Amino acid sequence: MPDWLEKAVFYEIYPQTYYDSNGDGIGDLPGIIQKLDYLQRLGVDAVWLNPCFASPFGDAGYDVSDFYQIAPRYGTNDDMKRLLAEASKRGIRILLDLVPGHTSTEHPWFQASRRREHNDYSDRYIWTDSVWTWNAPGVQMVIGAAERNANYVTNFFHFQPALNYGFAHPDPNHPWQQPVDAPGPQAARRELKNIMKFWLDMGASGFRVDMAGSLVKNDPNGEETSRLWRDVRAWLDKDYPEARLVSEWSQPQVAIPAGFHMDFLLPFASQGYQSLFRKSSGRGQARYGWSFFDRSGHGNIREFLDEYMPLLQATSGKGFIAIPSGNHDTTPRLGDGRDARDLALAFIFLLTVPGVPFIYYGDEIGMRSPDRLPSKEGGYDRTPARTPMQWDGGANAGFSSAPADRLYLPVDSAADRPNVAAQQEDNASVLNCVRRLIALRRAHPALGASGAFEPIYAEAGKVPFVYRRRLGDETIFVALNPAGQPCQVMLGEEILKQAPEVLYGERDSFARTGDAGWTLSLPGVSGGIYLVRD
Ligand code: GLC
Ligand code: CA
Repeated sequence: MPDWLEKAVFYEIYPQTYYDSNGDGIGDLPGIIQKLDYLQRLGVDAVWLNPCFASPFGDAGYDVSDFYQIAPRYGTNDDMKRLLAEASKRGIRILLDLVPGHTSTEHPWFQASRRREHNDYSDRYIWTDSVWTWNAPGVQMVIGAAERNANYVTNFFHFQPALNYGFAHPDPNHPWQQPVDAPGPQAARRELKNIMKFWLDMGASGFRVDMAGSLVKNDPNGEETSRLWRDVRAWLDKDYPEARLVSEWSQPQVAIPAGFHMDFLLPFASQGYQSLFRKSSGRGQARYGWSFFDRSGHGNIREFLDEYMPLLQATSGKGFIAIPSGNHDTTPRLGDGRDARDLALAFIFLLTVPGVPFIYYGDEIGMRSPDRLPSKEGGYDRTPARTPMQWDGGANAGFSSAPADRLYLPVDSAADRPNVAAQQEDNASVLNCVRRLIALRRAHPALGASGAFEPIYAEAGKVPFVYRRRLGDETIFVALNPAGQPCQVMLGEEILKQAPEVLYGERDSFARTGDAGWTLSLPGVSGGIYLVRD
């Protein structure tokens, strides 16, 4: 049996803004259940659900106060059980969001840990030896915030104290830094598996792992953090062989050998990823240069390929690189400054490259990131990528029946904001294009996660970008011209012997060029997918 990831197409759901079933203005699990048929029709077969556990929501749920409880605003543990079962009936698997590195300061473990008297949780977090120890390389601290005469290490915001997985190289000048095999760090690991086991037993198919590379401190090459994850993976392979893990690490050459099945390319670590869609987004002046997927035609596909090809080679046969259309941390959205034709090209790319594609909710209709939103729950400039899903042309775009001022975030107020209902009806919509592309990916093994990938025409600063995917008797060519101008490229006889079958795109793009091969002509902002069988 091939890995289920081979054909998987993921969809990221941000629970608070997907669908509100009870009119309180916040999306919820019963709301997601009601939209499973939509997902099935779209053709995705896996979901990554952002954190939906008990939390004071200082960081939108990445500050967990109980790993074993669904947050009341989203529903109950029984709702989660029902969601997992209903999804499974439709052939959809769900990965939950695992936040292994930190908790909320409101978590009972931390409440115990911050107490003056020594107790079972004193070493569950990283504390210095006194409040006057406030500066140590490689960690950030919150100073003077506890009755305990010590400072704690935080991973992100001040209310996200780092769980203690130990230090790879404890500093002899700082004896409070514990080695990874000390009792505190060992207890943290045991609890991590308990949490995973709890949700896997309920029917979850794995986890997206938050800040996966930062568990063990002072671990410059990630060696000890990798060792920890390899141990988790060995346990999964034995007890939950179908479960899959995707890391927020953005170093596939490290994360895959560390045991992750997939690793995301993300803007914070990958210039190559950034150069595809977000250097410029058609919104006007490009601050950092040009995206490849930009009508100007000034982008450079080599910025992506020169980074990607070595990563692909390093991980091939071992795990997958996941290229997301966007996520809850990434602004602008893919849809900003792009119309349906531009987006079709972006999705041809996303759904025909190797690895596992992830579609961020709303990107399949080209949702945009509204300007000038106030920060919500620690979102800051990430907030515009988190607005309510736009289901139809009605009030609140069909997201919720609550009064507009009670919504978690305002709906995009643009008069021409896209919505699902309108796009269902329109054969040329982004939604229908994404649906066709997902179906193609499913139907053609060469387009799957591990089919070979070879750039055929990929010149710095030029269009088109042409690549080849191969598996078994299938060879598939993909050609992309994001520029506003038409372009042509010669494909020699050694590359293409017969006219290919057009799977997607215009009919007569190939013309014979004497004996030398073929000329492929692409109008501005167009692309195609072409099949040749051996
Ligand atoms: C990850 C999440 C982000 C969160 C942070 C801290 O980057 O994607 O949303 O704020 O971790 O948990
Ligand atoms: Ca609700």
